[in-house]
Amino acid sequence: MSLKRVLIVNKTFPIAGIELLNNKVQHKILPYSDNEPESLSEIKKNIKGFDGIIWNTKHQLTKEILELCGPQLKAVTTMSSGIDQIDVEELKKRRLPLGNVPRVLDHAVADITVGLLVAAARRFKEGVEELMTGQWKYGVQWMIGQDIAGSTVGIVGLGGVGQAVVKRLKGFEVAKFIYSGRNDKPEAKYLGAERVPLDQLLKESDYVILSCPLTNETKNMINADSLKIMKKNAVLINIARGGLVDQEALYNALKERQIFAAGLDVVTPEPIPKEHPLLTLPNCYVVPHLGSATIETRNNMAKISAQNILAGVEGKTMPFPAF
Ligand code: DGY
Repeated sequence: MSLKRVLIVNKTFPIAGIELLNNKVQHKILPYSDNEPESLSEIKKNIKGFDGIIWNTKHQLTKEILELCGPQLKAVTTMSSGIDQIDVEELKKRRLPLGNVPRVLDHAVADITVGLLVAAARRFKEGVEELMTGQWKYGVQWMIGQDIAGSTVGIVGLGGVGQAVVKRLKGFEVAKFIYSGRNDKPEAKYLGAERVPLDQLLKESDYVILSCPLTNETKNMINADSLKIMKKNAVLINIARGGLVDQEALYNALKERQIFAAGLDVVTPEPIPKEHPLLTLPNCYVVPHLGSATIETRNNMAKISAQNILAGVEGKTMPFPAF
């Protein structure tokens, strides 16, 4: 019996995942041709005829691409927790299972969240810039930032990452954790976090942390109106998806000091052009989507997507189905 065929659409897929696929499926990795990242045209040209696809690329998996795959396609998995790069409705229409990779990245992303929060609150970017340009000044009013102890932290989306963030920040002696989301989270009770409407969270929080999925409902949830109701000392942290934030509105709010600072692991587009206005602001600390970028985490993510696809191509339930 011939092995099922699996396409991995980006060649940076860790070897830990490839090892699980070896001898179990026949796998190919894009791009075939050069050292450039996979282009959409190359994906389209080569996607036909596979039983399973590991969609580990920044490109969108659209209806058009699904049509090019052919009727033998049995399953798709991401190598990410987020699934906003996938046309989920199209997959559902075609009764194709989708896997994703939650949980194993919670710790790594929570670490980055805390790093960004401290960096933005304590003005690392401005401080380093002044240091490097010989403007380090002494004096008790130089480079004054925000306290974390005694603050109110608002988490938008208390999923695995949000919960891991709360656990870490408890050590910082935060006074109050609040969260917003579609449902009550049972874990909130032992974490000591109270569910409140989003508006209340925005009004009361000294730190607003975005850790929810990007959907039609959450797109641009942070916009000119929501920034207006945030506290003047507020620090906005986004470790989820750039699309949650109206970046022009954020730029204006930071420039006008309507809020204190922002720390962003995610932006739109990625990569963001180096001349982008947000990057010019001293109070906007941006890192290039490093959330899950640790060896152990990325290896675990690759292993889970391999396990998802191995199950999916055999018509079995994936270990981590996305729906
Ligand atoms: C994910 O997996 O969705 C994360 O954004 C990766 O950092």
